[in-house]
Amino acid sequence: MEQRDVRGHYEELAAEYDEHWVYGPHYIPWMSARIAEALRLAPTDRIADVGSGTGLFAREVARQLQPRHPLLCVDPSESMLSQLGTPPTAGLKPIVASAEDIAEGRTRLPYEQLDALWLKESVHHVADPARTLRGLADQLAPGGRLLVVMLPASIQYPLFEAALARFEELQPDPAVIEGHLAAAGLEASLSYVEHELRIDRDKYFGMVRARYMSLLSTFSDDEIEKGIAEMRSAHPEPVLVFPDRLAFVLGRRGGESL
Ligand SMILES: C[S@@+](CC[C@H](N)C(=O)[O-])C[C@H]1O[C@@H](n2cnc3c(N)ncnc32)[C@H](O)[C@@H]1O
Repeated sequence: MEQRDVRGHYEELAAEYDEHWVYGPHYIPWMSARIAEALRLAPTDRIADVGSGTGLFAREVARQLQPRHPLLCVDPSESMLSQLGTPPTAGLKPIVASAEDIAEGRTRLPYEQLDALWLKESVHHVADPARTLRGLADQLAPGGRLLVVMLPASIQYPLFEAALARFEELQPDPAVIEGHLAAAGLEASLSYVEHELRIDRDKYFGMVRARYMSLLSTFSDDEIEKGIAEMRSAHPEPVLVFPDRLAFVLGRRGGESL
């Protein structure tokens, strides 16, 4: 999608975004704990969530970690960031900027360096990931960590065939992202986490109709309705059960943390 379309997509989705992604009471705490664990977060760390959206995961990480410095929630969509609340939830600081703005120094962060930053399901919106990840890696303090959380190259969601095929066309390969982190001078590694999702069938069809994934915005209303009809006949079961498998691509800058 063009940058403008991506922005429009999230401006429209912002108010209902959290409702779509709260798959169940355990999902957000589970994923947030995996992020904190992979990044080995400490309360004294200066942390940023780049492409934070509504702060769904940053809020929970801050609740679990109680960081001493506000956790920076960076996102180009003001509507998504406005969901952080007015004033924003304690411990979170919204910053309207893209990953590119931070990487290229167009937007300066309030911390001279970062001890940890993550991008969760936002790297696919970055036009030149090699360049942008290098710029973000340059913001890390010695011993700093950068985590990219992303869907794998193919997914087993109960979507219609054309959506699954388009996902494979558009989704960057986590192994390529791992290569970008290594090229940026970080010690890079790739692992996967998996969580079983259980979603009421009609709720999921509603999420598809609301285009809960940005890739669904590339389909017309008519194509979405045909897709839902295809899903309806492929999935007569009342509750859809499928794995949510996410790649964790971790990079660590050499040297001791302060
Ligand atoms: C699928 S949402 C993920 C939000 C959040 N990380 C989460 O997991 O709930 C993608 C987010 O990336 C943001 N985004 C789009 N283009 C971006 C860019 N160039 N740099 C950083 N974030 C971007 C969108 O505004 C949106 O909030």
